[in-house]
Amino acid sequence: MDRKKYEIEINSAKSLEQLNELEIKYLGRNGEINKLLSTIKDIPDEEKREYGQKVNLLKTEIKKYIEIKKLIVSKQKSEVFFDKTMPGKAYPKGSLHIVSLAIEEITKIFEKIGFIRVSYPEVDWEYGAFESLNMPSGHPARDDVETSFIDVPAHSTLGKMVLTPHTSNGQNREMKRVKVPPIRMINISKCYRPNWDPTHTPMFYQFEGLCVDKNITIANLKGTLDYFAEKYFGIGTKTRLRPHHFQFTEPSFEVDISCNNCQGTGIIGHPQGGQNQKGHPKGVRCKVCKSGWLELGGTGMVHPNVLKEGGISSAEFSGWAFGFGIERVIMMKYGLDDIRNYYSGDIRFLEQF
Ligand code: PHE
Repeated sequence: MDRKKYEIEINSAKSLEQLNELEIKYLGRNGEINKLLSTIKDIPDEEKREYGQKVNLLKTEIKKYIEIKKLIVSKQKSEVFFDKTMPGKAYPKGSLHIVSLAIEEITKIFEKIGFIRVSYPEVDWEYGAFESLNMPSGHPARDDVETSFIDVPAHSTLGKMVLTPHTSNGQNREMKRVKVPPIRMINISKCYRPNWDPTHTPMFYQFEGLCVDKNITIANLKGTLDYFAEKYFGIGTKTRLRPHHFQFTEPSFEVDISCNNCQGTGIIGHPQGGQNQKGHPKGVRCKVCKSGWLELGGTGMVHPNVLKEGGISSAEFSGWAFGFGIERVIMMKYGLDDIRNYYSGDIRFLEQF
């Protein structure tokens, strides 16, 4: 038998099945080896012994060869073997941005009490940002709201183009869209003011509430603010109104919420409790609020001139509005101290929420 033939054949086998077939072909009952052995009767007596030894040696060789090749083939097979019960690779997971999460949460809170989320332009005319809000051109109150102007020709009646400094530009647009109250708007949008410090970025988000209907009073406003404060900041959070001034509301207020760090007391209690000599509770001043209250933003009853400009009769309808910063409420909720982190793109900061 040609020795090279079996070597080549076994070597080129690629599967265990092929090797099993070759095993039968060579070593089986009617295999090549047995055929060789069966011809022993035709061999001269003196050569029989040597012939038998050679065939047996060949048999052992082939056996060994097939054995080794089987091992190689099964090993190759196990390398591409796919175990579908093995746990998959865990790839790093992305998350929604802290501001997107807050927008979603705030939208849901107001949707529950019938407010409709709208989005009005971030680039508007002076008319939307000021005139329609009882701030005629040349009015000094305009300077209170630092504004970035866009370098394009002014509109003949609507004035210059601006990056909206607040979401209040949505008030006039919403009144004109709805035409006849009731209006329950929550306008969430980007705003721009040229400031950059731990509590201000030049681009930020505000959410503006506007409610116009018959018999709307400050009591409705206060109730809605309390509802929002409890839902967003947690049960037990209270609100208070402080007199303020805005051109587009009358009366106007600033809203504070009670600080959750010290339960609105301004003092983090002494472990033993009790009072000091002056009769004040023992403890240290709360670092988050200093006074028990945190400032949320501006609000007030919609000014009759603003209703009029929106085509709504102030004799028949009244309303309230507020405008709060999204980044600011997030800061207050989580006790964060630098708003610039929100936009630094540092994934380690963003992953925490
Ligand atoms: N637009 C005001 C601001 O940006 C907030 C405000 C909105 C106040 C609505 C009163 C009513 O500060």
